[in-house]
Amino acid sequence: MADGAESGLAAPEELVGRLLESAIGSMDIFAVYAGEKLGLYRSLHQEGPATPAELAARTGTHERYIREWLEQQATTGILAVGPSSDGSARRYSLPAGYEAVLVDGDSELFVAPVGRFVASAFAQAPGLLNAYRSGGGVPWEAYGEDMRTAQADFNRPFFINSLVPGYLSQVPGLDAALKTPGARVAEIGPGGGWAAIAIARGYPGVRVDGFDLDAASVDMARANVAAAGLSDRVTIHHRDAGDGSIAGDYDLVAAFECIHDVPDPVSVLRTMGRLVKPGGTVLVMDEGVGEEFGAIGDFTERLMYGFSLTVCLPDGMSHQPSAGTGTVMRPPVFRRYAEQAGFSRVDILPLEHDLFRFYALVP
Ligand SMILES: C[S@@+](CC[C@H](N)C(=O)[O-])C[C@H]1O[C@@H](n2cnc3c(N)ncnc32)[C@H](O)[C@@H]1O
Repeated sequence: MADGAESGLAAPEELVGRLLESAIGSMDIFAVYAGEKLGLYRSLHQEGPATPAELAARTGTHERYIREWLEQQATTGILAVGPSSDGSARRYSLPAGYEAVLVDGDSELFVAPVGRFVASAFAQAPGLLNAYRSGGGVPWEAYGEDMRTAQADFNRPFFINSLVPGYLSQVPGLDAALKTPGARVAEIGPGGGWAAIAIARGYPGVRVDGFDLDAASVDMARANVAAAGLSDRVTIHHRDAGDGSIAGDYDLVAAFECIHDVPDPVSVLRTMGRLVKPGGTVLVMDEGVGEEFGAIGDFTERLMYGFSLTVCLPDGMSHQPSAGTGTVMRPPVFRRYAEQAGFSRVDILPLEHDLFRFYALVP
């Protein structure tokens, strides 16, 4: 067996330090979860710096816990703190610019939803261990509202700010097609509906149909669509995209961060191929992981394996039979699914993103 030094791995003593750093990181993430859910960051941003008692009074929370949270946040370098030797008199503030990361849901720096991802995933720990033993799963709906909204809110800034101008408008032929009055778009697995909303906003002549299997996600997306004033052009259907009876004739059929989750990706891709009209575009956005496995992985690989262990693989395995894809869906695996679904070719589009890759599927 290779020892740590030979294989490029940390020495045992270094591993201890690294895992304790990770423990601090996971506690930071819990504190972000609490700060977001209890409105602590929002209050500091909107109502200004506060002592523990002031922040507790503003947010309907308990002063003793809020003092501990504020001290943890200052200690870990997320909040700024004024000088005072008296702990209850210290005033804490959200540093300028940090609201983009922790409060502003429109900002592409908004990363606070990771707190909800991690908290709702860890809450499923007993079910996850059962699944690891039995080969079963934990369905998406079991992770609950925090997971659903974390997914929607994490991708939302990218969708509403960049999807159309930076990505869809760059796909050959697609921009012109979607500018044609009466153009139609189908989206598989819309979740919170933000991609569908962005497309409808970016292309005012387009009608969008979204198909999602999860009833609570359908309700969430419909509410977001209604609040955006787009219910006349965006319709969210409660349907399994693998259902062979879904029909249509669409200029664009898209799936954003969804194919790796579905138990039967070939059936869903087959639906996508059936829904697109001749000359239309089938587009899949999924994780930008490497062509092949390689240890030690980079940032994206480590992030995606983390999500896979705790959310995506158990979700995909929760309906059997399952392809058991997991978050780390590499291009060769995706090409195999596409080929089995009847596509002749898969092109990787030259669209750069830190986390995602864009595939165009050719019938
Ligand atoms: C990880 S979420 C992505 C949601 C959204 N596209 C986004 O990027 O935020 C995957 C979505 O696919 C939906 N989904 C999974 N399997 C599906 C299926 N067979 N048919 C339709 N929707 C499905 C889930 O309910 C969930 O809303």
